[in-house]
Amino acid sequence: MSRIPLVDLAASYDRHRSAIDAAMRSVVEETRFILGRDVGEFESAFAAFCGTGHAVGVASGTAAIHLSLAALGIGPGDEVAVPAHTFVATAEPVSWLGARPRFVEVDAETGGMDPDALKAVVDRVRAVLPVHLYGLPVDLAAIGALAAAAGVPLVEDAAQAHGAEYVQPDGSVVRAGAYGRVGCFSFYPGKNLGAFGDAGAVTTADPELADRIRRLANHGRTSKYEHLSVGYAERLDTLQAAVLAVKLETLAEGNRRRRELAAAYRARLTGVGDLVLPVEPPNRRSVYHLFVLRSGHRDGLRAYLREAGIEAGVHYPVPLHLQPAYASLGHRPGDLPVTEAWARECLSLPIYPELSDGQRERVVARVRDYFDTAAHRR
Ligand SMILES: Cc1ncc(COP(=O)(O)O)c(C=O)c1O
Repeated sequence: MSRIPLVDLAASYDRHRSAIDAAMRSVVEETRFILGRDVGEFESAFAAFCGTGHAVGVASGTAAIHLSLAALGIGPGDEVAVPAHTFVATAEPVSWLGARPRFVEVDAETGGMDPDALKAVVDRVRAVLPVHLYGLPVDLAAIGALAAAAGVPLVEDAAQAHGAEYVQPDGSVVRAGAYGRVGCFSFYPGKNLGAFGDAGAVTTADPELADRIRRLANHGRTSKYEHLSVGYAERLDTLQAAVLAVKLETLAEGNRRRRELAAAYRARLTGVGDLVLPVEPPNRRSVYHLFVLRSGHRDGLRAYLREAGIEAGVHYPVPLHLQPAYASLGHRPGDLPVTEAWARECLSLPIYPELSDGQRERVVARVRDYFDTAAHRR
């Protein structure tokens, strides 16, 4: 039986092949490689999708965070509140700018930044940088209120949450990246909206901030050889913009399919073994970039699935406060127990729009087998 990968980039390409090939050929034939019209067209379409005034295409999700923090004036001596249960790229740009990540505990149910933990440190930080982990928005109203009361910007790491929705206390719905001062998106190939290489975007309602980010991404330029400030080379590549514009057209449909798959996984895996299934609070709609369950038998289950040709992932096995890269901050195991429990127990099952119902059922059957048979007691 064929292998079920964690992410299937070939299936995604197959779905869009002719449109993507045509879009890329057009860029190449006209040699519009740097800041070609495709970049601006994609930016407008993506801003509309997110419900923000502006989107600035940049080189990666990491660059999106870097440029946002730089444009907001984060620098040496500053601290930025960052969850410890995330990919390292959430924190790296903080360090590049000479600032220091202040690692914040996450919520036991969702894995997102815990507003109560943020409360204890928010008066010391210059920005709050939560992550919409696995595609589920954080508690934006609670976190946003704390940031606003402290007078610091909210920077959303929406790298995994293109199109995720949050219902505000007044009933209005806002999409990930459209709530805070800025939203930072990654279009890394396996993301819900994935390029054919590195790519990212920053969203914001503030035209002046969008201009500053655009300028910083392009050598601080005001014209070809005039540079207002020392900037960076972090533009969105035109070929990537052309690919992204094609794939954006099916993003909403892809997100719907991911939600359908997640609902089926949930229905079929509830009550199985010691599994804890992903929680979706009633005021939030995840786009299931990942379907992450928790189990005390995580490593055994992962190995069992691998033997059956099913690839499961771990996002993320080592929390940031315990990474060698951040040893200088002096953290010890036990400092952030909820984060550390997530790192020990989380397991990501395959989920992507092209995953068939049959493949999903194969995953379900093997997970159930693991707990029904003696395998999990080995
Ligand atoms: C939560 C999170 N933040 C930031 C990034 C960085 O994005 P990129 O790989 O596009 O630089 C990623 C993805 O890789 C991510 O998952």
